[in-house]
Amino acid sequence: MFTHEEVHVTAGRRSGLPITIAIHSTALGPGLGGCRLWTYADWRDGVEDALRLSTAMTAKTALAGLANGGGKTVVALPPGTRLDVDARRALLHDVGDAVETLGGRYGTGPDVGTGTDDMVTIGERTDHVFCRPAAHGGSGSSSPGTAAGVVAALRATVEHLDGSADPAGRTFGVIGLGSVGADVARRLAAAGAHLVVSDVRADARALADEWGARWVSPEEALTAEVDVLVPSALGGVLTPAVVPRLRCRAVVGPANNQLASPDVAGLLHEQGVLWGPDYVASAGGIVHAVAVEQYRETEAVVAARIDRIGDTMAEIYRTAAAANEPPARAAERLVAARLKVTAGTR
Ligand code: PHE
Repeated sequence: MFTHEEVHVTAGRRSGLPITIAIHSTALGPGLGGCRLWTYADWRDGVEDALRLSTAMTAKTALAGLANGGGKTVVALPPGTRLDVDARRALLHDVGDAVETLGGRYGTGPDVGTGTDDMVTIGERTDHVFCRPAAHGGSGSSSPGTAAGVVAALRATVEHLDGSADPAGRTFGVIGLGSVGADVARRLAAAGAHLVVSDVRADARALADEWGARWVSPEEALTAEVDVLVPSALGGVLTPAVVPRLRCRAVVGPANNQLASPDVAGLLHEQGVLWGPDYVASAGGIVHAVAVEQYRETEAVVAARIDRIGDTMAEIYRTAAAANEPPARAAERLVAARLKVTAGTR
């Protein structure tokens, strides 16, 4: 079923590269979602990724209590593409033009493959862009906010498992030490947690030593014996084949679209592994961006707002446990309810 409001695929006037902007829903307000710049074997795979990621953004913004819907931009780079400074600039101007064409129904931000400086370049063509550096009037990187939200979600997770929200003495397996994953691991280490960590880049190992964490390969990390697995890299890690090999009690992390297919939520539930939906755990970044740039809230108020991600996750766990269903099911019902209430009042 086609559930999107609009999907635009254009060839950038300057770059010639395929840019997809998918707006899934504007029921609660303008669709938001970052700009992903990634390599795909076929540009159609980029379109598909945009469809999936924008759908998750509707759930993310709705459950985070924002007056926004879901959208996403994906630029599908053909394999082997190397963008020099000028080519990258041209491409980002193409993205800015594409966003501007939508007249505010969609706003963009950073995502995998783009950062705060790129938002400045996009911002030369449109105002509908979040997370420019503070010097350029934006809220800066979304990573610290995302990490703070993940930690709130992890505290709710261990509390649901056995009554105490304290990460101290628990073991977490952090897969991927990019800006968000490394920040989450650092916060957990500071709180006295044990860590098993991995990254595809071998040079991230120095971080593991710094935290006294056990360093393993990404494959080993996935099946490590831990309390909570924290996927913090690309999506699709939870496949039907991986689920029976898991040796964790829960999986909760910031990677978008962790389930290789929706039925994996049921498989995890049957196996007694608690999966806290990624679109709940990862909302801290967008919450920070919107609360600072649009609601003009102070950092302290924003921090409290991000902390409420833990309450939302706890509510989802409780509702799911009462109905003996996967948390993803409870979360989906909550999303539907929020979208419907607003539709009724318009
Ligand atoms: N890309 C991040 C997300 O998926 C963060 C973000 C998106 C921040 C859009 C601001 C605007 O949530």
